[in-house]
Amino acid sequence: MTATPERYARSIADLTRSKKTLAGGVSSNVRLGDKPFPLFFDRGLGSHLWDVDGNEYIDYVLGRGPLLLGHTPKEVVQATVDQLWRGQIYAAQHELEYELSERVSRIIPCADLVRFGISGSEAVHGALRLARAATGRQTVLKFEGQYHGWLDNILYSLSPDPTRAGHALHPATLAESSGQFSGADSHVVVLPWNNIEVLSQYLEQHHNEIAAIITEPVMCNTAVIPPLPGYLEAMRDLCTQHGVVLIFDEVITGFRLSLAGAQGRFNIKPDLTIFGKAIANGMPISCLAGREQFMGLIAQGKVGHGGTYNSLPAAVAGAIATLDLLEKDGAAVYDTLETTGQSLMQGIRNLTAKHDIQAVIQGYGAIFYLGFPVQGANLPVGQAITDYRSSLAMDNDLYTIFVSAMVDRGVRIIPRGNWFLSSAHNQADVESTLKAIEEVFAEVIASKVTA
Ligand SMILES: Cc1ncc(COP(=O)(O)O)c(C=O)c1O
Repeated sequence: MTATPERYARSIADLTRSKKTLAGGVSSNVRLGDKPFPLFFDRGLGSHLWDVDGNEYIDYVLGRGPLLLGHTPKEVVQATVDQLWRGQIYAAQHELEYELSERVSRIIPCADLVRFGISGSEAVHGALRLARAATGRQTVLKFEGQYHGWLDNILYSLSPDPTRAGHALHPATLAESSGQFSGADSHVVVLPWNNIEVLSQYLEQHHNEIAAIITEPVMCNTAVIPPLPGYLEAMRDLCTQHGVVLIFDEVITGFRLSLAGAQGRFNIKPDLTIFGKAIANGMPISCLAGREQFMGLIAQGKVGHGGTYNSLPAAVAGAIATLDLLEKDGAAVYDTLETTGQSLMQGIRNLTAKHDIQAVIQGYGAIFYLGFPVQGANLPVGQAITDYRSSLAMDNDLYTIFVSAMVDRGVRIIPRGNWFLSSAHNQADVESTLKAIEEVFAEVIASKVTA
């Protein structure tokens, strides 16, 4: 489980106890893969987190994306708590709701109309249903290596086994979970990302069947892959040309890559879009938004959208307080994020050069990727990973060793290689993180890559 059990004595006891009644000892399967094992946490403040054994961490997991402002920013907590004392749920409208929808509509260019839910997965579900209703077509096109939530109709080919995944240019549609509805896969087409020729040819022949293209505008769930120049623009044009609904899943990129998300950063208007995570800095709320032509179908009651907890007042209050902070001083928070993240990325690059360690570091200040290629992998210099298949050149076992060694040294990172930054991270965090990385490179990694 871990090479340093004494450091995690209470977490180990907690996990043993928890597993007896909580399936796997975790509440979301992704946490099963945490390294060195699923730890138990006690509290978080700013960029730091403490586990139940009293170990302190600089946190680059950040709730897997929501905590753009760091843990427990007082304005967000205060607004949430104040609202809770006014009632937990009304099962009716409240004025904060339209305050937030007006705000989102002003910030997000494609958001003529908005609906709020709880999770990103269900908002994706709503977007796909809308696209099918609007076009009368059934099939959805997604990209290999991308994740759009855990529901049956879209949980395909996130990290497919390469021996079963088929041709790189025409990948198979592979279910990620046992028990997925077996009929759903015939209505999901999987293509490689960042390849406009393949997409263009596919749509030329099959556009009459395709209701929607759903894409993460930056492929955050695999190696934080940026879109190649012109790729998203060309995708936008193809969708317009063929009457296909373009859905940007901005559950990770939303409010993170810029105030207006990736669509703002790249200046591309999708037809529908989904936000979650950073919109409320940790309070449970998601947002389905888009052009009136599509969202109007929900407004008219023609397309079903529901949920007992939708627009939970405390979560909406948390979202408004979050947006207040994100918009403050001309959205200065994004400069801080970029500066801190770039400084960390550059520091890691310097250390890989110093210790002669091959690494891929790519992405943005607010979210980036670090991975080590397998020995002998032939990757071009510069931006090395452009799609799921090129991500297979990364040595996941070595990265897992790296993650455990980092956690042992008080730096908490995600085993898949993506690093989230918050505005609460500062230069002192960067320096401490680089010190830990240098130790791990020298003591753990260097011997393995040169062996
Ligand atoms: C891009 C993307 N879409 C959708 C989801 C699903 O969101 P949720 O976990 O809130 O259901 C996630 C979750 O990580 C995601 O990364």
